[in-house]
Amino acid sequence: MRHLIDISDLTVEEIDSLLDLGEEMLRHPADFRASQQGRILATLFFEPSTRTRLSFESAMLSMGGSVLGFPSPDSSSTAKGESLQDTIRTVSCYCDIIAMRHPKEGAPVAAALKSEVPIINAGDGGHNHPTQTLTDLMTIRLEHGGFSGLTVGMCGDLKFGRTVHSLVTAMSRYPGVRFVFISPPELRLPAYLLDFLRDRGIPFSEVERMEDVLPSLDILYMTRVQRERFFNEADYVRLKDTYVLTPDKLALGRSELRVMHPLPRVNEISPRVDDDPRAVYFKQVRNGRYVRMALITRMLAE
Ligand code: NCD
Repeated sequence: MRHLIDISDLTVEEIDSLLDLGEEMLRHPADFRASQQGRILATLFFEPSTRTRLSFESAMLSMGGSVLGFPSPDSSSTAKGESLQDTIRTVSCYCDIIAMRHPKEGAPVAAALKSEVPIINAGDGGHNHPTQTLTDLMTIRLEHGGFSGLTVGMCGDLKFGRTVHSLVTAMSRYPGVRFVFISPPELRLPAYLLDFLRDRGIPFSEVERMEDVLPSLDILYMTRVQRERFFNEADYVRLKDTYVLTPDKLALGRSELRVMHPLPRVNEISPRVDDDPRAVYFKQVRNGRYVRMALITRMLAE
């Protein structure tokens, strides 16, 4: 049985084919309206979520399937002290596939060991978030027509931002991509990912000032400073507003630039940027539903 724990669990060909199916579903949703009738998705969220959980549920409901689950651990037997593995073993008796989010890195791997059904990692701590990456890749492909030759700027909390980790891993598998990492020294991309890029000869640079690199970017991927992963509040307060994208700063970007964000945003993108045609973060939200329809379809077909 295959699970989706890390984006590298999928080959590049599988990712491309998932994006093809996601785009087909976006264009012709009615063709898939009954395609998962009788199937059940469980969404087990041990950490807060708006888009990821609801897009998974919307995806399953849009294909005629059903959903069950819990939006927070307080409403499950976790609050009584039940272990993750017992919860998974139980829920996997009630459904055909599970999407789970957990604050502990590696929790989906532990879950997969006890599950009777495929597990999808919907975010594990500051580690990975492969389905946000599918959403991001679909958006980039729709906006730029492909990945080759793109200069991708990633800005903000690159240390704890799990969506960044998964997106770097995925995009580094496409030829001709270069990265520009924009962060304060305390929030640099983890060393294991920098080593991964160096080992593969993938070009990247690390800078502190967004303004210096904005004119060279095709993508600016903004992120929230991940308050819940900080050891002390004072560090969070000091770093939280390091980057705020305003219309003035965005004026430095080219017309091909696309501004992305996995959301939720706090202060890092001014709402005054939202009407700029280069701002595509709400298109990411829309695409997330269709690419998750594609993922559920493929995983249930195996
Ligand atoms: C992200 C996450 O949960 O990692 N949100 C999402 O799933 N779209 C980003 C974040 O919380 O900052």
